[in-house]
Amino acid sequence: MAAYEYETHDYDVVVVGAGGAGLRATLGMAEQGLRTACVTKVFPTRSHTVAAQGGIAASLGNMGDDHWQWHMFDTVKGSDWLGDTDAMEYLAREAPKAVYELEHYGVPFSRTEDGKIYQRPFGGHTTQFGDGPPVQRTCAAADRTGHAILHTLYGQSLKEKAEFYIEYFAIDLMMGDDGACTGVLCWKLDDGTMHLFNAKTVVLATGGYGRAYFSATSAHTCTGDGGGMVARAGLPLQDMEFVQFHPTGIFGAGCLITEGARGEGGYLTNAEGERFMERYAPNYKDLAPRDYVSRCMTMEIREGRGVGPGKDHIHLNLSHLPPEALHLRLPGISESARIFAGVDVTKEPIPVLPTVHYNMGGIPTNYWGEVLNPTKEDPHAVVPGLMAVGEAGCASVHGANRLGSNSLIDLVVFGRAAGIRAGKVIDRNSAVPQSSKAEVEKALERFDGLRHAEGAVPTADLRLEMQRTMQEDAAVFRTSASLAQGVEKMTEVASKLDDLHVTDRSLIWNSDLMETLELTNLMPNALATIFSAEARKESRGAHAHEDFPERDDANWRMHTIARAQGNRINAVHINLSYRPVIEAPLTSEAEGGISPEKIAPKERTF
Ligand code: FUM
Repeated sequence: MAAYEYETHDYDVVVVGAGGAGLRATLGMAEQGLRTACVTKVFPTRSHTVAAQGGIAASLGNMGDDHWQWHMFDTVKGSDWLGDTDAMEYLAREAPKAVYELEHYGVPFSRTEDGKIYQRPFGGHTTQFGDGPPVQRTCAAADRTGHAILHTLYGQSLKEKAEFYIEYFAIDLMMGDDGACTGVLCWKLDDGTMHLFNAKTVVLATGGYGRAYFSATSAHTCTGDGGGMVARAGLPLQDMEFVQFHPTGIFGAGCLITEGARGEGGYLTNAEGERFMERYAPNYKDLAPRDYVSRCMTMEIREGRGVGPGKDHIHLNLSHLPPEALHLRLPGISESARIFAGVDVTKEPIPVLPTVHYNMGGIPTNYWGEVLNPTKEDPHAVVPGLMAVGEAGCASVHGANRLGSNSLIDLVVFGRAAGIRAGKVIDRNSAVPQSSKAEVEKALERFDGLRHAEGAVPTADLRLEMQRTMQEDAAVFRTSASLAQGVEKMTEVASKLDDLHVTDRSLIWNSDLMETLELTNLMPNALATIFSAEARKESRGAHAHEDFPERDDANWRMHTIARAQGNRINAVHINLSYRPVIEAPLTSEAEGGISPEKIAPKERTF
C-alpha cells in the first residue's frame, strides 16, 4: 500500500453531510457551545435538500383548522402502521416549533394576505383523524422550500462559528474496541490530503441512496454514504425494502414535479383524458398518499391507458390554473417542465411517471437520533458516539411510506433533536477520544485498494448494472419471482466489486475514484433493499407484493434489520432479523396525548 500521511482534527461533534438535517444538527450543536465541524462532499447549499420543492409539514393552522394529533394520525396511517409511535408523536408535536424557529432564523416563506406562513394541501394530510377534508398543512417558500431552508441554515451555522470542511469525502467510520464510534477518516477532494476527524459524537447526515436505481429524482450525489459506512462497521440498516416512488417525476428525465402542483389544483389524466384518481380514491383523489397514487398510475399504464406513443406514462394537468398562480406558487416546476419536457405548463400537460424519490429505511435510530444496534435482549441498544439524522436515518417516522412534506420536517425536527441530545450527553470538558491507528490503516487500505483496482469492470458499467437490476426487480409492484431474481442478480452484481477497474490513480479531483467509493456505498444499501424486500411476505406501504397483496400485521408489523455478512468490505449477502415496532406514544391520553384507539391499525382507505 502507498504511504498516506494524514492530518488529525479533534472536535466535540463532527457532522457528516450538510443538507437540511446536517445543517440543522450542526447549528443546534454549535448554538450549545459544542465544538462542531461539518464535513461535506459538496458545497452545503448544493446538498440535495436544495431540490426539495413543495414544502414542510407542520400543523400551524394558518389556512384552516389543524391539530398536531391530526398530523400524527396521518403520519401513522401514511406509514401503514410501521412507524415507531413515539417518534411519530415527537415529529408532529415538535413540528410547529421547528418551523417557527426556521422563520425566525430567516427562511423566506411565502405569505398569506395577512402575513402568516402560506400552507398548501399535500397528499395524505387530512383533518379530523382522516374523517374530514384535506388540510393545508404544508408550509412553502413557493416551490423552492428546500433551497430557502438550506441557505438560511448555512448562514446561521456560520454565525454560530461551526467549522465547515467542504468537498471532503468521508471514507469510513472509526470504531473503538468497545463498539463506540470515535471519528471518521476523510479525503480532501481538491488537494488529495487525508484527514482524521476524532469526535465525541459523529452525526451521519449523508442523505438517501436513490442513485441505486436507474431513474430517480435524487441528485447523483445521493449514494447512501452513511449506510455504506455503517454496513462496513458491522452495524445494521433498517426497513430498506421501503423505497418511495414519487408519482410525478418528469417522464424520461426523472426530475421532480412537486406534489404541490396537485396541492394547488393540478390533476392526473390517462389516455382517455379521464381523471382516474377519482375512481381509485373517491375522497382524496389526486391527494391520496404517494404509494397509492404511484400504484394507480402504474395500473392505468399496465391496463393500456397510458399516454404517449408508447402508452407508457401519464399526464399532469396544470393549464386550467391561472397563469399568475403558476408564476407565484409554482415557478420552479414551470421552468423544469419547459427545460426537461419541452412543455409550457400554461398550455400543455406535463408527461410524468412514478420515479424513485425517497428511502424510508436507513440507519436505525431512536427519536433523539442515536444510532441503534438492536439485539434480541435489547432491541433499542444505542451505539455510543454515533448519531444519524435525515434520510440517512430511520427514526422511524415514515414506516412503510412517507407523506409528502414530512421529509423536510423530519430533517429539521430530528436534526434539532440530535443537537438537544448532544447538548445534554456530551461532556464538554472530557478529552476527545483518539481513533486507533489500526482503524485508520484499515480504511486507508480499502481506499488504496480501490485507487489501484486493476480488475476488468469499470465503475460506471457496474453501477449501471446495479441500477438496472434494482429498477427492474424492486419496482413499484414486486412479485416473489421478481424479488428472487433480484436477489440472485444483485448477489452477482455485488461480487463484481472485487473486480473493479479504476483508471485514474491520482488523488486530486479524481472523480473516477470518488464514484468508485460511492459505488461501494450504494451496493450494501441496494443489497439490503432487495434481500429485505424478498423476505417480506406481505404488502405494506411502498412494498406492494403481488403474491401477498394484503398487509399482515400479525406476522409482519415489525422492522427489518439487515446486516452485511462476512467480509464486510464487499459483502454479497445480507443477514436479516426483526425488531418490534414501538406502539406506545410518548404521552398518555390522560396527559394530553393521542387516544390509542385513534391510531390502532385499520384498513387504509382514501
Ligand atoms: O413533491 C414534493 O414537493 C416533494 C416533497 C417531499 O418529498 O416531501
